[in-house]
Amino acid sequence: MRLDKYLSDMGAGTRSELKKDIRKGGAIIDGKVVKDPGFSVDASSHVVFKGAVITYEEFAYYMLNKPAGIISASDDDKEPTVVDLISEPKRKDMFPVGRLDRDTEGLLLITNDGALSHRLLSPKHHVDKVYYARVSGILADSDIELFRDGLVLTDGLECLPADLKILSVSEDEYISEAEITVREGKFHQVKRMFSSVGAEVLYLKRLSMGPLTLDPDLGPGEYRRLTPDEMAGLEL
Ligand code: URA
Repeated sequence: MRLDKYLSDMGAGTRSELKKDIRKGGAIIDGKVVKDPGFSVDASSHVVFKGAVITYEEFAYYMLNKPAGIISASDDDKEPTVVDLISEPKRKDMFPVGRLDRDTEGLLLITNDGALSHRLLSPKHHVDKVYYARVSGILADSDIELFRDGLVLTDGLECLPADLKILSVSEDEYISEAEITVREGKFHQVKRMFSSVGAEVLYLKRLSMGPLTLDPDLGPGEYRRLTPDEMAGLEL
């Protein structure tokens, strides 16, 4: 591929900026200064641009522990996004696989692999998503059955069967904690499901998505690349 495309894919700048910088001598390929933006390179080329080694990768995969207060988008004119939290040099075409609400925390996969994203999000595939929820309200065993039988929300939405595990109930504080496994991802899915049984979600965190489990060592806002085992679990 062309040198300017290689660098642009890897997020080193816009094509026009890159062309200028390459012509000025900013790129060293396999030890030689190359001033032609159309010079042919591939993933095996050793590319140094403005003093930094730029390695080409076709697909990149990061696990992010999304903090509350950040939007699940690739880029935004007004505020930072989950992709902006990946602060190391990265491909320019990264996006979050699905959306978590602004106030939701937890597991978010950030990648540029559209086929994987489709596999994880397609309603046909029914990928399990597990959330921890703290709700205002008293959850009861009867709710477990309602969730398992498939809730019908107030707006008529029929939910797929979901697993509800009640972790704690405090009658005094009027607060319950639960883990819920859903197999679909409609807008505000989990919040609306709890709301339909009279519980308001106070805190929501995604713990897993398909074979991928949030690394407990990642604090809110922290990220890391997927491990080879995690990649294998996703059949990559
Ligand atoms: N369900 C919700 O209501 N919110 C999320 O962020 C994710 C699932």
